[in-house]
Amino acid sequence: MFKRVPGTRDILPDQAPVWQHIEGVSRRIFSLHNYLEIRPPLIEEATLFARSLGEGAEIVRKQMFEIRRDQDIYALRPEGTASVVRAYLENNLDKTLGFVKLYYAGPMFRAERPQKGRLRQFHHIGCEAIGSYGPEIDIEVICLAQALLAAYGIQGYTIALNSLGCAADKKALNSLLKERLQGPLSGLCEDCRDRFDRNVLRILDCKQEGCRRIVDGINIGHDHLCQECARHFETVKHGLDALGIAYEVMPRLVRGLDYYNRTVFEFKHPELGPQQDALGAGGRYDGLVKELGGPETGAIGFAFGVERLLLAGKSLVDDQAAGLPLVYLITLGDKALQEGMK
Ligand code: HAM
Repeated sequence: MFKRVPGTRDILPDQAPVWQHIEGVSRRIFSLHNYLEIRPPLIEEATLFARSLGEGAEIVRKQMFEIRRDQDIYALRPEGTASVVRAYLENNLDKTLGFVKLYYAGPMFRAERPQKGRLRQFHHIGCEAIGSYGPEIDIEVICLAQALLAAYGIQGYTIALNSLGCAADKKALNSLLKERLQGPLSGLCEDCRDRFDRNVLRILDCKQEGCRRIVDGINIGHDHLCQECARHFETVKHGLDALGIAYEVMPRLVRGLDYYNRTVFEFKHPELGPQQDALGAGGRYDGLVKELGGPETGAIGFAFGVERLLLAGKSLVDDQAAGLPLVYLITLGDKALQEGMK
């Protein structure tokens, strides 16, 4: 008998109502915030992701499902941001709409080792606001993510917030980390020793006990931020304070993808366990539109992992699984059956 591919799931009829509920609630909240739906294809040229996420990103190096046909190499999309920006440019939305707020929902694919909350086919509900550098959009996007969680009925999460700064600031942060990690380098895990040359920021994300201890021991603040980026970050924090949105500034939150700059954030939930505790995550990617051949413009977005929302929102699952009341029609005799059929 055939079995499903490890790390994939069948969404059976008893679970489908929960998915419909989450998708329905999301559409309503996104529309209220004037986000429009976009549905990019599930496959793209593999180089789109290498260019956007970075050749050194773990997703690109180890986790892409690639399809080779003749000379072409495609990839099953591992995330949505690169596709949305590609579609924004290819369809001239930069010229016709300029600033645009888009949302999407659908499957993503990453060849990871399957475990709780980590699948090979999983689902994102996400959004991208493209065409503005304004810190007000950062505030709106985080507020929107919170509104979604409230509408799903998910509580008990925390918001981790950081600023990576501009490209020059990121370089400064890179150098600072290299300087501070050079000494304890031999104590890091094999992956992190590899990351030291390839993508030193990723060492801050490592979940290995030994690496965490070393990273916790080094002092990382926000000294690498230039004046403008520091001001941007302050405005974002003040805006969140004004809206009563609680967050924790975590200088170690760097996110693993090349395209991020300035504001980055993660929604963490204890129900997911320490290894992969993010319900969702996002940030600014001001350089990506230009990197993919478009104008110089700012952008920000985030994505929730739907399977993780379901792990964190147990009551949500129970409520929806109860289903709607049914009407059961019983007929007695042929004549009644005919009437009943009507
Ligand atoms: P990401 O952090 O790679 O960001 O993924 C977002 C969320 O997807 C994670 O927080 C997690 O909930 C879920 N997720 C990721 N990998 C898996 C997996 N293997 N199994 C189950 N769930 C998973 C991005 O993809 C960015 N594109 C988000 C973004 C949008 N940034 C700006 N705009």
